[in-house]
Amino acid sequence: MKANIVCLPGDGIGPEVIAEARRVLEEVARRGAHQFVFAEHMIGGVAIDKLGTPLSDATVQACKDADAVLLGAVGGPKWDDPNAKIRPEQGLLRLRKDLELFANVRPVRLHPALVDASPLKPERLADVDLVVVRELTGGLYFGERRREKTERGERAIDTLAYYDYEVRRVVELAFRLAATRKRKVTSVDKANVLDSSRLWRQVAAEVAKDHPDVTLTHHLVDSCAMRLITNAAEFDVIVTENMFGDILTDEASVLAGSLGMLPSASLGSSKLGVYEPIHGSAPDIAGKGVANPIGAISSAAMLLRHSLRLSAEADALERAVDSVIERGLVTGDLGGKATTVEVGRAVCESL
Ligand code: IPM
Ligand code: MG
Repeated sequence: MKANIVCLPGDGIGPEVIAEARRVLEEVARRGAHQFVFAEHMIGGVAIDKLGTPLSDATVQACKDADAVLLGAVGGPKWDDPNAKIRPEQGLLRLRKDLELFANVRPVRLHPALVDASPLKPERLADVDLVVVRELTGGLYFGERRREKTERGERAIDTLAYYDYEVRRVVELAFRLAATRKRKVTSVDKANVLDSSRLWRQVAAEVAKDHPDVTLTHHLVDSCAMRLITNAAEFDVIVTENMFGDILTDEASVLAGSLGMLPSASLGSSKLGVYEPIHGSAPDIAGKGVANPIGAISSAAMLLRHSLRLSAEADALERAVDSVIERGLVTGDLGGKATTVEVGRAVCESL
């Protein structure tokens, strides 16, 4: 098949890990006689420096016209001034919003060879296989935001708001996903305090009625945070508000041995998706060639599966990643000595 893939490497270790994800996709194309056409565009701090904006209209258009988008990471100390009007992260948020990617799918799996890489006891890690579906275009990230000077001092306001339809579409996606897995959805909220959570809960219960083969449990976010560490094996598909999902997935990465392992797919109602590792730009190790590319490479596997509908190729790529991990060819975050490029090349060879 022929596919147009836009690469947005971004900042920090973004370019290093995206180079490996692209290398692997090129190998997949070669072996399957597919034609993947890559175009590279800027996002984040590098785009601010070169174009004066973290995401240009032209880049948004290129992404809309593509079959899939592969993204590295955005942000870094250079652009971290809290008073700055323009921030790298705005590029990422705009991309998600403009492409209407309302669901961010983050699978969490522990490769048996990496049990020692996690600080948790092996018995806590047994049978962990879960997916967090994070709402991505609403909630606290996109609510009204303002600053005001008041008599009592300066005040900052962020708001957490949801329409019922925004909750419904993401919960619906979570149920469809659960139907292909262990058939359990855990809807995570803070319904003992927040009205948006009470609406979330109500809509989740309505959606559940259309899926009698899948069980729905409601869970409060604070206790879910604890259960993810003490008993993660009880979860199958977790669906939750934008910021709750942001926090819970960084936490859940501990189950997979390293933040560098987790891939993600940001999906909407069409085949187009943005695929990115959940880790950030890691400025402390950027440019050293030691970043773990597995989160990015596994994101490329999700790209093959969801946007290009090449599920055999996606499975093969995931098996290749597994075999490289089994052979201990891993980066420093997992206790290994391999470089970013060595891991990418090894995955290509294993394919
Ligand atoms: C993520 C990141 C982003 C987010 C940042 C960079 C804005 O942490 O994708 O999880 O919070 O969504
Ligand atoms: Mg995050």
